[in-house]
Amino acid sequence: MNLSQDHSREPVQLLKHGPIAEICIDNPPVNALSQPVRQGLLTCLTAAEKDHEIQAVIITCNGRTFIAGADISEFGKLLLEPHLPDVLDQLDRCTKPIVAALFGTVLGGGFEVALSCHYRVALPQTKLGLPEVTLGLIPGAGGTQLLPRLAGAEMALEMITSGKPQTALQLFDHGVIDVLLEQGSLSVTKQAIEFALQIVKAGKGARRVSQMIIDTASCPNDLFDQWRTKLAKKARGQKAPQYCINAIENALLVPFEEGKKREREMFIKCLESSQSRAMRHAFFAERSAAKLPPAYNHLEHADLLPIQQVAVIGAGTMGGGIAICFANAGISVQLLEMSEDNLARGLAAIRTRFEQALKRGLITQQQLDKRMSLIVGTCNYEDLNTVDLVVEAAFETIAVKQQIFSTLDRVCKAEAILATNTSYLDINKIAKSTSRTHKVIGMHFFSPANIMKLLEVVYAADTDEQSVKTVMALGKKLGKVSVAVGVCYGFVGNRMYACYGREANMLLLEGASPQQIDTAMKNWGMAMGPLAVNDMSGIDIGYKARQENPPVTPDPLYFRAADLMVEAGRLGQKTAAGFYRYDTQTKKLQVDDAVLPMFAEEALKLGVIQRDDISEQEIQHRLIFSLINEGATILSEGIATRASDIDAIWLNGYGFPRHLGGPMCYADEIGLDKVVAGIKTYQQQGNGLYWQTAPLLETLLLSGGKLAQQ
Ligand code: 3HC
Repeated sequence: MNLSQDHSREPVQLLKHGPIAEICIDNPPVNALSQPVRQGLLTCLTAAEKDHEIQAVIITCNGRTFIAGADISEFGKLLLEPHLPDVLDQLDRCTKPIVAALFGTVLGGGFEVALSCHYRVALPQTKLGLPEVTLGLIPGAGGTQLLPRLAGAEMALEMITSGKPQTALQLFDHGVIDVLLEQGSLSVTKQAIEFALQIVKAGKGARRVSQMIIDTASCPNDLFDQWRTKLAKKARGQKAPQYCINAIENALLVPFEEGKKREREMFIKCLESSQSRAMRHAFFAERSAAKLPPAYNHLEHADLLPIQQVAVIGAGTMGGGIAICFANAGISVQLLEMSEDNLARGLAAIRTRFEQALKRGLITQQQLDKRMSLIVGTCNYEDLNTVDLVVEAAFETIAVKQQIFSTLDRVCKAEAILATNTSYLDINKIAKSTSRTHKVIGMHFFSPANIMKLLEVVYAADTDEQSVKTVMALGKKLGKVSVAVGVCYGFVGNRMYACYGREANMLLLEGASPQQIDTAMKNWGMAMGPLAVNDMSGIDIGYKARQENPPVTPDPLYFRAADLMVEAGRLGQKTAAGFYRYDTQTKKLQVDDAVLPMFAEEALKLGVIQRDDISEQEIQHRLIFSLINEGATILSEGIATRASDIDAIWLNGYGFPRHLGGPMCYADEIGLDKVVAGIKTYQQQGNGLYWQTAPLLETLLLSGGKLAQQ
């Protein structure tokens, strides 16, 4: 029975099941708490309170999940009433017991709704969490006050500062969930009604979490300071994690109402911060990346090629990582190598990686066995005749790739998609070695392929819509952030990275030390400096790539510093020397002044004037502005569809700090006028003629437009 007049189009309905009222939210896709939902909750709750026949209330959701949080698209606009904390106060104060019926992903404000209810029942695999910190926020509707009251301060610190969800099964042991529901037999709603009836029968009333006392006996005295120190390091430069700690500490120090008030103040402060703006931009950037350019957006989902069996060519580090990705997603893999020896080595390396995951508790022995059984080795191309997709991860040489693709074209079934993991090569040329250019595509994974979230899906001139959409959908299944990009040297990420690396190299010739450059970039927010990264990955890799596939406009200066290192046998960590020196036992990095005269001598030879006035800001601006400038050019060329796609690439493939939103978002935050002025200054400096302001930046500067919105 419907208590109200016409709720057919309302996002929240009130239904009656005898003495139990059901408040049902229906706001697809994830039942976010938009203003109409908050209003609907309040109205239905008031009606249920007033109805004398009602003895208990359950809160349920239609669709695939219980509420997944506040509506993030409302943030940054005027916050409309009723505000969530006020709605939840009313839930908390309700005189009739309220039960939250949980399934799917119960996140942020959704978890706060559940915590404000008096009882919680959930399917065991329901994921519950407070991921606000990943948006540069703290929970803003009582989460920091309620969760410690139910689960204890340590658990609250763990969940709120990491933003990572836990399953209902795990939280049941911490007293957060009252009853685990059965999967499959009765619906979640029916089981919740049963539970509510039992509560009524047992005479149990409202049980308010707000009135519970936090168990502090087992908390170490310096618990909060320990967390402050830990997160100052782990989440360097981020403000929200520290606010989370303060808010949870308040839960132990001040009454509930006061703690909630202070929490809301901190939430609003975070909401208005540039860090949260950047992290919200990152959230939407990753989701819009899934939306394809118009030319690739006509087919229905049903028309995608089902991918049940794949092949990976090459069992080296990259190929092995890619095979692991597929096995992790339950897809069977034929791993092809040229010799039995190489194959055995590759398979053994894969097993070692799974065993490391087992040791770290990330997978079970059963999962290890299952995943290993999904990867089958072969040295015979003919075995690939049934696969739906091939990812080639062989040597980065066009002739080798063309040979492989011509063979694949011969042995694979006609509809199979042939993908290359090339980082730089022209996929159009690779496609031409086949008779199915429309089925050839780039799947550019980032090392380690089973860890890094980014997948550049590179469409070539002839690649058809089915292949692009199938590979994008596959990327999602593999847990990747997939971004569709066009063909050019280095695609989006590496093409921009080359500019960043070029600046680091130029600065070395101009007199900056490796340590000076790396420290500047770490202070700016990067996890590692570019030269330490280069030492770690091997300086010779870029050197060989430049020899094999010279950039379109090579310049003798650009990577001279790196080339010098390679020519002196300093390949990085693997030779215990590169831009730095490394302890052979511990691999600990040591500053090595021996490289400075090498750069000075080379600078003299090349006519580069060395300076001793290179500031930290110049280093930071040159490296970051070079990224912004190249990103803007890439955008104008249509290689990337949206500026936010470029940000998604940098956030997920290159360790760009999430709280700075990606290079395009950062450009807007600091101001395009500053960026363009900087570029013009560097152009006039020393050897800076290669700095050419991207026309798009000039245009936006004139129009007052935003780069990240392009
Ligand atoms: N607000 C607005 N839109 C949201 C949303 C939210 N909280 N959560 C998801 N969406 C949208 C996405 O933008 C996407 O829209 P699109 O189809 O137009 O691109 C759509 O819902 C589906 O999202 P996904 O593609 O991410 O779907 P998945 O099934 O892969 O994941 C999910 C679902 C796990 C719920 C994931 O979307 C997610 O993690 N959402 C964010 C959850 C979150 O951060 N909640 C906290 C919000 S802050 C808050 O609650 C503050 C409070 O303390 C006051």
